[in-house]
Amino acid sequence: MSDYLNHQVNIHDPAFVAHYDELPLWSAYAGALLLRHVPLRRGCVALDIGCGAGFPLLELAQRLGAGSHVYGVDPWEAALDRARAKARQWQVANVTLIPGDAASLPLPNESIDLIVSNLGVNNLADGVAVFAECRRVARPGAVVALTTNLQGHMQEFYTVAFAALESARADHLIPRLQRHIEQRATIPALAAALEAAGFQMTRTAEETAELRFADGSAMLRHWFIKLAFLPAWRDALAGPDMAALFSDIEARLNAHARHAGELRLSIPLAYLEARA
Ligand SMILES: C[S@@+](CC[C@H](N)C(=O)[O-])C[C@H]1O[C@@H](n2cnc3c(N)ncnc32)[C@H](O)[C@@H]1O
Repeated sequence: MSDYLNHQVNIHDPAFVAHYDELPLWSAYAGALLLRHVPLRRGCVALDIGCGAGFPLLELAQRLGAGSHVYGVDPWEAALDRARAKARQWQVANVTLIPGDAASLPLPNESIDLIVSNLGVNNLADGVAVFAECRRVARPGAVVALTTNLQGHMQEFYTVAFAALESARADHLIPRLQRHIEQRATIPALAAALEAAGFQMTRTAEETAELRFADGSAMLRHWFIKLAFLPAWRDALAGPDMAALFSDIEARLNAHARHAGELRLSIPLAYLEARA
């Protein structure tokens, strides 16, 4: 039955407009990499770890089609509410949202064919427990497909931050900033974690995205930088001189942008695929 032929859209309906924006542009860089590589097999049962407000959960559910089913897990309940509303608005019926930690999934052993996560792995408090749980729910031959930003991301910002720390003689903050940088994923560390959980690496793909800003003042005030990056930078540089350090970093980024014509932040990204 060609039910789609009867579908009507009212672009003036506020409920339609409210769900028109699907995901932050930041998520789209890695998301495009995931969607370029992830295997799309009809009739599969998939799981999105850290699905947030519904990405890639809802995109994947639609690309796989009604014969497939996609579970999304995330402890962020307000984001799941939004994913639920989008699923309703877009009439995507083949999804189930699971509020909670991916380290403890209410799913049977060997029940999932495809496990994805877009920008999830840098956010997991216990990645070892999550990968072990993924292995438990994976059917033999199931595919794990992860995309993440890597260590080395925004190196232009960190080079300037280290110069500001040296100039302020804030040597005690250098190891703290270094530790913050080293917490981010690397391909060898992620591959080792997947293999330790019982998956076999099958392939990787890498690319570098660029976030461009007119200068450092614009970058530091962008809503997504303030949401996703500034809190960790504030923690790393916390202390009585934090405000002066940030002023110096902003001035240095602006000087760099004046010289280079703009501020470009490199974002190395990776797609990792493994098999159970
Ligand atoms: C950077 S966001 C990515 C969200 C979404 N996948 C996207 O591409 O926009 C990381 C997500 O991981 C979720 N998360 C953090 N710890 C988690 C855990 N233990 N289990 C499942 N999700 C988790 C966060 O709540 C957040 O929604």
